[in-house]
Amino acid sequence: MNVLHHLRSLFAPVLAEVAPDRAKVPDYLGMVKPSANAEHGDYQANFAMALGKALGQKPQDVAKAVVAKLPANDVFEPPTVAGPGFINLKLKDTWLAGRVRDLATDQKLGVEAVAKPKTFVIDLSGPNVAKPLHVGHLRSTIIGDSLVRILRFLGHTVVSDNHLGDWGLQFGILIHGYKNFRDDAAFQADPVRELARLYVAINKMFKKDGDDEDGPTDDPVKKVCQEETAKLHAGDPENLGLWQQFMPSCLEMLRPIYERLDVKIDHALGESFYNPLLPGVVEDMIAKGIAFDSKGAIVIPNAKGLVPRTEEEQKKEEPPAILRKRDGAFTYTTTDLATIKHRSVTWKPDAMLYVVGAPQALHFKTVFAQARRWGYDQSEFVHVQFGSMLGPDRKPFGARKGGVVELMDLLDDAGRLSLQKYEENTAARRAVGHKVLELTDAEKHEIGEVVGVGAVKYADLSQSRTTDYVFDLDKMTATDGNTAAYMQYAYARGRAIFREGEIDDSRFRTNPPPVVVSHPTERALALQLLRFPEVVEAAAAEYLPHLITAYLWDLAKCYSGFYVNCPVLKAESPELKDSRLLLVDLVGRVIKQALDLLGIRTVERM
Ligand code: ARG
Repeated sequence: MNVLHHLRSLFAPVLAEVAPDRAKVPDYLGMVKPSANAEHGDYQANFAMALGKALGQKPQDVAKAVVAKLPANDVFEPPTVAGPGFINLKLKDTWLAGRVRDLATDQKLGVEAVAKPKTFVIDLSGPNVAKPLHVGHLRSTIIGDSLVRILRFLGHTVVSDNHLGDWGLQFGILIHGYKNFRDDAAFQADPVRELARLYVAINKMFKKDGDDEDGPTDDPVKKVCQEETAKLHAGDPENLGLWQQFMPSCLEMLRPIYERLDVKIDHALGESFYNPLLPGVVEDMIAKGIAFDSKGAIVIPNAKGLVPRTEEEQKKEEPPAILRKRDGAFTYTTTDLATIKHRSVTWKPDAMLYVVGAPQALHFKTVFAQARRWGYDQSEFVHVQFGSMLGPDRKPFGARKGGVVELMDLLDDAGRLSLQKYEENTAARRAVGHKVLELTDAEKHEIGEVVGVGAVKYADLSQSRTTDYVFDLDKMTATDGNTAAYMQYAYARGRAIFREGEIDDSRFRTNPPPVVVSHPTERALALQLLRFPEVVEAAAAEYLPHLITAYLWDLAKCYSGFYVNCPVLKAESPELKDSRLLLVDLVGRVIKQALDLLGIRTVERM
């Protein structure tokens, strides 16, 4: 059950009766919210100010009148009206206890399937194959995967699609390297490795090492690579053959990363897939009067509708986009328009989400605006943007020399550090006489991996998506605070109670005992458990996974308050012990489920 929905349903008939404009009722209901301050109750209804204005009455009086009209119920204590007209709601302990007990038998932990499921296409990851993965692609993969999981959990249909950059200059680089510098034996033995070597070797020959962004250049080596790319795009059989030969190896380079991140993407329709469709896109947009010839190039207006006619206009802060360059080459924009058409026709989605970094905001603004003019206006388009990951020097990772972080190394470091901290922790506990688990090497390896990868994901997802954040391996692998490790420990500690007490947990899930609310910390924990559905819904509504990590952090705090004050195995009575075991089991299930929505795994023993 979603408590917020339930509370709103109790207010709805009263508001429909009092509001002068019934159309405003949903807005008023939206003002029923969890209390920011627990002293003011569990939930708060704040519509009296707006409603009072509409009625020309004092908000205090309106609040009192609404409260008086509420039918008697067993959900909350008689509401109090505070300040200018806040209605404070405190759930009845008996009701709270009953709902938590209901939660125990619900596989989805109170999260209800949405009434009207939608179809989403989520564009995520989008690495430029043959190049090392950029941290921006890492963020897109982690955030995008979490959104896929959250929306699916709510019952939506989600099609995930990896818009691979598999058609750009990086292939010109590989083709040039292969034609002139390849080591045949090495290529035979391990093509993935040899191609990676060639990529790096050619990059070193550039005037500026690693400057592999496409664009006008006076660098002779880069020029040759661009020519090879142009030949590929023009359909040159030799280069096309090499592209086909290289692609499997390029995809093979990415595979272990996705595996390690535990990310599965339904489709990988990259830029190359759309190549044959691009001339048709341009012709159609010209025919429909959306694209224009400008000195031999085909251009479209920017999102504001500005059509470029002069060089000056092209230099504007919001420049119109080019669909076909004077030399006949198509662009990133053309490909994205073809992609929208394909996705619209194939999946007829209600919404298309693009999980791509903030620097591409202008690109998507233009593409979305022009796609709508073109007739693809049935879907909502959302650029789910995110900020940069900064290095310890607070500069974007991507701007440092080398330009990229070797992701696998980074995950290795995170794993090593996590395991090291885990072992220090264990040693410290052993030293003060605590019982600690004796784990096999395989189990330790697994902990390093699950905690290390979890740390990187959690650190990313716990930031408000749009802000930049500093990549700090030490902080993100900490065993205390709002980190993956802390949540994973909390989960494992709960499992240990059942294991060590030899208690069968299935009883709590199929035939739960009554829940007893006997202590304020017990009540706070019960309430926090019940809020899980609200939070999942809010995270989905705004595409904000950090609402889930914030929830986990609050849950963990409630849990430790409970843990300190409420003995479980040594509870005062068998009823209390059973009730507390149920809470412990539920906390574990909610943590595990919430982490799963973030794409983070747990281990049973640590
Ligand atoms: N490959 C692109 C890049 O590295 C990201 C692709 C994003 N998706 C899209 N449909 N444009 O910038």
